[in-house]
Amino acid sequence: MNILNRLRRAFADAAPEGLSADAFSQAVRPSTDPRFGDYQANGCMAAAKALGRNPRELAAEVASRVDLSPMAGPPEVAGPGFLNVRLIEDWIAAALGDLLADDRLGVEPVDDPETIIIDYSSPNVAKPMHVGHIRSTVIGESLSRILAAQGHKVIRDNHLGDWGLQFGQILWGWKHHLDRDAFERDPVGELARLYRLAAAKMKPAEDLGPRLAKVQALESQGKPDEAAALFARLFGDSGLSRPQAEAAVAEALAVAEAAREETAKLHAGDPENRKLWERFMPHCLEALEGIYQRLGVKFDVQLGESFYDAMLPEVVADLKAKGIAQTSAGATVVFTEATSAPMIVQKRDGAFTYATSDLAKIKYCEEEFDADRLLYVVDSRQADHFKQVFDVARSWGYSSVDFEHVAFGTILGRDRKPFKTRSGDVVGLESLLDEAVAKAREVVDENSAHLPEQERARIAEVVGIGAVKYADLSQNRLSDYVFDLDKMVAMNGNTATYLQYAYARTRSIFRKGETTPEAIRRARPPIFITHPAERALGLALLRLPETLDVAAAELKPNVLTDYLFGLANLFSSFFEECPVLKAESPERRDSRLALCDLTGRTLAFGLDLLGIEVVERM
Ligand code: ARG
Repeated sequence: MNILNRLRRAFADAAPEGLSADAFSQAVRPSTDPRFGDYQANGCMAAAKALGRNPRELAAEVASRVDLSPMAGPPEVAGPGFLNVRLIEDWIAAALGDLLADDRLGVEPVDDPETIIIDYSSPNVAKPMHVGHIRSTVIGESLSRILAAQGHKVIRDNHLGDWGLQFGQILWGWKHHLDRDAFERDPVGELARLYRLAAAKMKPAEDLGPRLAKVQALESQGKPDEAAALFARLFGDSGLSRPQAEAAVAEALAVAEAAREETAKLHAGDPENRKLWERFMPHCLEALEGIYQRLGVKFDVQLGESFYDAMLPEVVADLKAKGIAQTSAGATVVFTEATSAPMIVQKRDGAFTYATSDLAKIKYCEEEFDADRLLYVVDSRQADHFKQVFDVARSWGYSSVDFEHVAFGTILGRDRKPFKTRSGDVVGLESLLDEAVAKAREVVDENSAHLPEQERARIAEVVGIGAVKYADLSQNRLSDYVFDLDKMVAMNGNTATYLQYAYARTRSIFRKGETTPEAIRRARPPIFITHPAERALGLALLRLPETLDVAAAELKPNVLTDYLFGLANLFSSFFEECPVLKAESPERRDSRLALCDLTGRTLAFGLDLLGIEVVERM
């Protein structure tokens, strides 16, 4: 049961004549300040303006007409024409009683479920997976769970980058620098080393190449003195002489060219490269699977760019036949309104692009799943790519599909630069999770020394992984955020640890009272709302469904984390102010135990939608 929706329907029925009932009812919101009631209807001011009426008078009319029973009595007119709604305690108590018997805690499936494909995680395999991938994985997983809980058919899609230049780099490394023993011992480690080696060898082309080009440009303009001065300025800190700089750039370009050739051969079906690729892939997938298992992530579809490869010629031919794509300077491109530069679907050398495979994926997904929505949980730096792809897909015939780039910002280190380790490497995901678990272990050892060793290890895993996920999900996904392990595992503040601890408290009270949550649920005791802390907690418990609606509509898990943090705080006040086991009567005690159970279940349910586990004690 969704209180906000019910109030909105009631206000829609009471909307002033001659106005859009929908707009009027959308102006019903939760109050930001309890002094103004629990909810507010703020539509009367705009309505009065549109109708040329006095807003307070209009508000009084609506107040006398709107039927909010049995949830609330007539709303109160306040200020320039606000309507304040205060829910009736008896109704809150009865609604909580119903909630106690409801496994879904009031969350109802939507009336019109959609088929939604969520593309998330989608790392480039064979490169070491880094901390940036955690955002896509964690946010995508949570959105999948939230949308599925709302009754949508969710298809989790890991669009693996398994066909790109990184394989050319690895193939080049394999052919020139392979350490066979290392590959036998740790295949993924050796592949990652070969990738890094090739990347490092190619780097001067990027770093030094453009600088050198500037120097050379001056020379070709016949300005040798200026060229020499510029060289001294641009290369002074590198310690390279002119011939050395030229040699470094030339070598880098040669490796880059060789890697491109290896990639092209792979794509063209060269038997040796294909065989190697087939040999590498199972190891890469196995390593990924290990991480996904640890994170509790499972995909329905795990198709990579390689899967779509065979469809690409047809995609380009079709775009051309329909007059969408055209030839420009030897390449095949599509001009779109989305960006000033056209989107390239086939390069001059015949190679297809990242964009082409995204179009193939859309075609495949529509034919296979007939999806209503396609969501892409990908770094905001790819915004232009997705604008173009969506634009082209719409003109290609997929105009009724709802495409959305669910963008997110960058993870920063404490220095506010993109997160790196001391050695300068982008942090590997595995070691980062290990570090988080170790940090959590310190906290657990300090707070729960009485628990057996094995249990503490298990709690540390749940707390450590939960901390990393929650830190990410509790940010507005569009912002960059600073990765700070100490803060993440803190017992206090807006952390998973705090919520997990609150959950454990809701469970330990039952053990102390020598009863169980199941017994209370079965007994269905009447709920009493007598203390303000009970009222505030009880109302919050009833607001899970409307919270999920907002989180789903905005595709923002932080709406849910904010709610859970608020709930845990209200529980904490309730726990301080209202004795549970020592309540004044057995009826009051059972009522409060019921509130504890509902709080625990709501916390666990909400955390599960974030992909975070709980433990029974900590
Ligand atoms: N593999 C890409 C990367 O790591 C992300 C792929 C996102 N999904 C897509 N359909 N383009 O940058």
